[in-house]
Amino acid sequence: MSENAPLKFAYWVPNVSGGLVTSTIEQRTEFTYDYNKKLAVLAENSGFEYALSQVRYASSYGAAQQHDPAAFSLGLLTATERLKLIVAAHPGLWHPAILAKFGITADIISEGRFAVNIVSGWFKDEFTGLGEPWLEHDERYRRTEEFIRVLRGLWTQPNFEFSGDFYRIHDFSLRPQPFDVPGRAHPEIFQGGNSTAARKLAGRVSDWYFSNGKDFDGFSEQVADVRGFAADNDHAVRFGLNGFVIARDSEAEARDVLREIVDKADAGAVEGFRKSVQQAGNSTSDGKGMWADSEFADLVQYNDGFRTGLIGTPEQIAHRIVEYKKRGANLLLLGFLHYLEDVEHFGKKILPIVRELEADLDRTGDPIGVGNAR
Ligand SMILES: Cc1cc2nc3c(=O)[nH]c(=O)nc-3n(C[C@H](O)[C@H](O)[C@H](O)COP(=O)(O)O)c2cc1C
Repeated sequence: MSENAPLKFAYWVPNVSGGLVTSTIEQRTEFTYDYNKKLAVLAENSGFEYALSQVRYASSYGAAQQHDPAAFSLGLLTATERLKLIVAAHPGLWHPAILAKFGITADIISEGRFAVNIVSGWFKDEFTGLGEPWLEHDERYRRTEEFIRVLRGLWTQPNFEFSGDFYRIHDFSLRPQPFDVPGRAHPEIFQGGNSTAARKLAGRVSDWYFSNGKDFDGFSEQVADVRGFAADNDHAVRFGLNGFVIARDSEAEARDVLREIVDKADAGAVEGFRKSVQQAGNSTSDGKGMWADSEFADLVQYNDGFRTGLIGTPEQIAHRIVEYKKRGANLLLLGFLHYLEDVEHFGKKILPIVRELEADLDRTGDPIGVGNAR
């Protein structure tokens, strides 16, 4: 994909209860299948190309109830025509061949719209509660690399062989193979996780690296690092960035909403989450990675989505999104307070400005306008 290809947009599927912020502020969002079917159809008609279904197996930190992302996504694939569904999956809980097989069937049913987000995990209690070993941080990533190599191998090669520390595959062929999409080698492999181990993983095997919410510098630092690792391995990787959108007619109104979200945070749940995520970046030797320097207010959106700063008027948000494109973003992964209303508003009021700015960027190398570098 060229640097100037139009930005792609994804949204977080609200497949867990409680919405995308751990706060008692009103969230007109539901985690039911009916609500999500409506949302998925609206999203694909509002310019969204992807939807990401998250995985949580146990009640925790505001997500009291959860739908399985694989089954839920398959339902949403059958309810839509163009939307691609990215299914989050944990090595250590799935076997890669079983996910590869599931993915082929979902890909064929949806005519090539299945993708995965391979997540190495931060939630120790989920693994230990299910009687599975909780590996040390970088070991989790070593397992994830093998997992992705097996997935890709089974999706592209007959009589596949693999001999690793975590997985062994002997002369195995999956039939049928994934749906044939011109220009796509296999269902896309996204990766969640931002530590040094995660960055190296992306530089070796992932198609997409998802960044947690970040300001400009934080995002640029990751892009440079991951691109360096990718260059060492002659590997191409694209970048997705998380952000939580609060669009209002004035910046002051949008900032008031953010203040209200944080003021009404469920402090106990946010604190519990903060403790749990110490298993992520903070447990590594260089202390880089997800949530390593997150403040209380950041954690109220559990993927640091406020840090991306998509908070203000449609014009301000569109400018900022295009600024991230200039810094290497290929995709924005978005969360909202009131999904049905906000996704529609995004498609009608923000996306057209983004497309205009991108056209300017193509023409001049720089989008017009100010107010983009807060
Ligand atoms: C966009 C994105 C989505 C993620 N989705 C999930 C998820 O659904 N379930 C989950 O357990 N972890 C998810 N993660 C977190 C990963 O499990 C990640 O590997 C872990 O937090 C460790 O991060 P680290 O490499 O920065 O230490 C996600 C991460 C990102 C960036």
